[in-house]
Amino acid sequence: MSGNYATETVLADTDGIARAARILRDGGLVAVPTETVYGLAARADSDEAVARIYEAKDRPSFNPLIVHVRDVEQARELADLPHTADVLADLFWPAPLTLVVPRKAQAGLTAAVTAGLDTVALRCPDHPVMQALLAACEFPLAAPSANRSGFVSPTSAAHVAMTLSGRIELILDDGRPCRNGLESTILAVRRDNSWEQLRPGPVDLDALHRHYWDGPIDNAPPSGRIEAPGQLASHYAPGKPVRLNATEVASDDFMIGFGDVSGDCTLSGRGDLSEAAARLYACLHEGAASEKPRIAVAPVPNEGIGIAINDRLRRAATPPDQ
Ligand code: TXA
Ligand code: MG
Repeated sequence: MSGNYATETVLADTDGIARAARILRDGGLVAVPTETVYGLAARADSDEAVARIYEAKDRPSFNPLIVHVRDVEQARELADLPHTADVLADLFWPAPLTLVVPRKAQAGLTAAVTAGLDTVALRCPDHPVMQALLAACEFPLAAPSANRSGFVSPTSAAHVAMTLSGRIELILDDGRPCRNGLESTILAVRRDNSWEQLRPGPVDLDALHRHYWDGPIDNAPPSGRIEAPGQLASHYAPGKPVRLNATEVASDDFMIGFGDVSGDCTLSGRGDLSEAAARLYACLHEGAASEKPRIAVAPVPNEGIGIAINDRLRRAATPPDQ
């Protein structure tokens, strides 16, 4: 049962945030804006609250959640941060950077939040609303993207309502689209300080390498051992066929343009990759809602944040049974 809640959308102001904190304390679900996408938050120390996230999203229980923390001190209460993770947190947080690190056994996190793994994904978000909410709560917040499992991620309160209305108590509306528009970069950092990128995102590996150039961090080559269980081949699906690298439009295509390739909407008319990242999910939502039976997407350069955009586009274009 996913429940039947009278989902309310309220402004993410002081009153809204205080109300959200009360709902969360009582084990409820609140959708919250972050700098990446809207998150579906619940207290990470409660079996019942976290179970409700899986239920509301129809999310497979083997797919663990990201735990959001106020600061690196709160992260240290939940996990044994290997030296590399400590350095990265210091350099980047608050940021769209999630660190998968060894969890502390006695940290009080419910096992469901990590799907029984002995690691935990931690992120300190760079958004005033999510930060205010974390400051108002004495517990950390589990928060996956606020969409039903497999659907396109939400970058506005209206996107959240589309798939979660009736399943959660509250949506905090920031009144503007999420700034980055793509989910956080995920890095797994092992006890031996080697690390591996599990999901490309707004903090790109080039930026990490630039910081390491003279730094203390010694990265081992990727081992391929760890995988983000949620990185399924098909994801972010708009519910109709998606054709990538399209330079010509067929009459039944909803065309998503980029740069010189124009369309029914565009990721960025001036070919700006940050703008394209911020607009990607809004364009996919528009394509999903249009009467056209297919979606076509113009080529997007595979560099910088374009790597994360193409990662999401490939998953959106993969049929669900693969
Ligand atoms: O930007 C974001 O990260 C957003 C906002 C709300 O913070 N959250 C988000 O959560 O994208 P979600 O649940 O949609 O994606 C979490 C990803 C999944 O691919 C999951 O498998 C992976 O993180 N993950 C979580 N815990 C993990 C762990 N212990 N080991 C490996 N992967 C993990
Ligand atoms: Mg997601």
